[in-house]
Amino acid sequence: KRTKREAFGSRNVFIISAIGSAVGLGNIWRFPSVAYESGGGAFLIPYLCALLTAGIPLLFFDYAIGHKYRGSAPLAMRRLNKRTEALGWWQVLICVIIGMYYAAIVAWAAIYTVYSARLTWGKGQEEEFFLNKYLHMEAPGASLSTTFPKTVLIPMILVWVFIIIVMSAGIRKGIGRANNIFMPLLTVMFIILVIQSLMLPGAANGLNEFFTPNWEALKDTSVWITAYGHIFFSLSIAFGIMVTYSSYLKRKTDLTGSGLVVGFANSSFEILAGIGVFAALGFMAQAQNVAVSEAVTSGPILAFVAFPTIASNAFMGPMLGVLFFGSLTFAGITSMVSILEVIVSAFQDKLGWGRVPTTLTVLLPLAVASTLMFASTTGLPLLDVVDKFVNSFGITFVAAVTLIVVAWFARKLPELAEHLNHRSSFKVGKFWMFLVGGLLPVVLVYLLGSEFVKLIRDSYAVANGYPEWLVSIFGWGMAGALIVVAVLLSLISWSSKSKDKFDPEFD
Ligand code: PHE
Ligand code: NA
Repeated sequence: KRTKREAFGSRNVFIISAIGSAVGLGNIWRFPSVAYESGGGAFLIPYLCALLTAGIPLLFFDYAIGHKYRGSAPLAMRRLNKRTEALGWWQVLICVIIGMYYAAIVAWAAIYTVYSARLTWGKGQEEEFFLNKYLHMEAPGASLSTTFPKTVLIPMILVWVFIIIVMSAGIRKGIGRANNIFMPLLTVMFIILVIQSLMLPGAANGLNEFFTPNWEALKDTSVWITAYGHIFFSLSIAFGIMVTYSSYLKRKTDLTGSGLVVGFANSSFEILAGIGVFAALGFMAQAQNVAVSEAVTSGPILAFVAFPTIASNAFMGPMLGVLFFGSLTFAGITSMVSILEVIVSAFQDKLGWGRVPTTLTVLLPLAVASTLMFASTTGLPLLDVVDKFVNSFGITFVAAVTLIVVAWFARKLPELAEHLNHRSSFKVGKFWMFLVGGLLPVVLVYLLGSEFVKLIRDSYAVANGYPEWLVSIFGWGMAGALIVVAVLLSLISWSSKSKDKFDPEFD
């Protein structure tokens, strides 16, 4: 007998959860520096083009697949066409990798929220504290370290326990509720943080630096490619997340209306983060008497070195630190939940098991592997390599192949457009099909090619001072292994409970 598919409590909870997935580390520590380095104020033009011609059309594409075929990524792809199931598993495996290292970042952010209250890192010691006293960072030698600093290990275990509890509670009581609590909290905290940053001395210099347009940058194709690459990452599109979430929507739902809300909400949050981060960097530059351009960083160093420095020096610094790291923690948790749901949902469909047994069976081993890999003293270099390969290839590669297969081989775009238009306020037509089936595959293949050439040409290992084996095994090796494992998973047979779902008319 078939059990009924879980569902979000309402369309609003779905929208909040989709925004929760989209708004993440990318908004806070990636967008500001990407925009700054790609033309400042002028970057808004390629950015908006990418949002309108790639981000939002692809959100619609993901929603259409998840909602029409009502399944996790592999089940939806299996119902779309007998031969495309492996693509769904490939998306699942990318989420396995991202989920493993996201947990480490969330754990660092969570404990740094606590450290902020007393500025534990010590004024002037911020970098030394993060890399040595906190992470006890080791350069990877012949193998990964098996030493686990307690301050990393314990928060990581707690993060996993918390996430497993949320996910075991299901879509409505777990994921929906967590987003309903954390997203309003995140929004309020972040707005207060931005206001506090804007009041710091030097904030105006930071904003000037951030918004001053460099129109020349628009002539550079790599700036446009950067804008498209960022939008894919930022909206968490084309690798199973939005497919999974929309499979939990009720039949009668305005899909395109939801997509527009999610797309614009995520971008608003990015611009807001750009303002907050650059106001704070302007203050830091003034306090250290350097140019703003010298104070700009991104990623873990921006979050865990620059922001502690700002908190050490600012008026009401502990509050600024708590707001910043609290925001990072909540933004990370709501993204992480969406990543892990792709995995749990896929195995639930394949095995026909209930929510709790599937969650425990899938997430406990993942939690152990994640902790063993990323809580050790070589966690940061490993995280850097894995993140680089997942972001440059994993996501873009799977997005390109999915679009090409669905649009050109399975020729499903007309049906998907019809499905979108059935209930939606904003209708799509030929132009949408042209973007999704024509322009975007080309953009993606170009993006992929240029990343590939870059990685080969300036050996990633050499450029970053990492040993060759680390990049071969955890970069190239992992990327290849994902494809092989995806094909193997697609060969395992489905639970008899799921089999009747292959009928595309299934409801
Ligand atoms: N969209 C998230 C962000 O902007 C990042 C993310 C990527 C989340 C992949 C889930 C999966 O930070
Ligand atoms: Na985002």
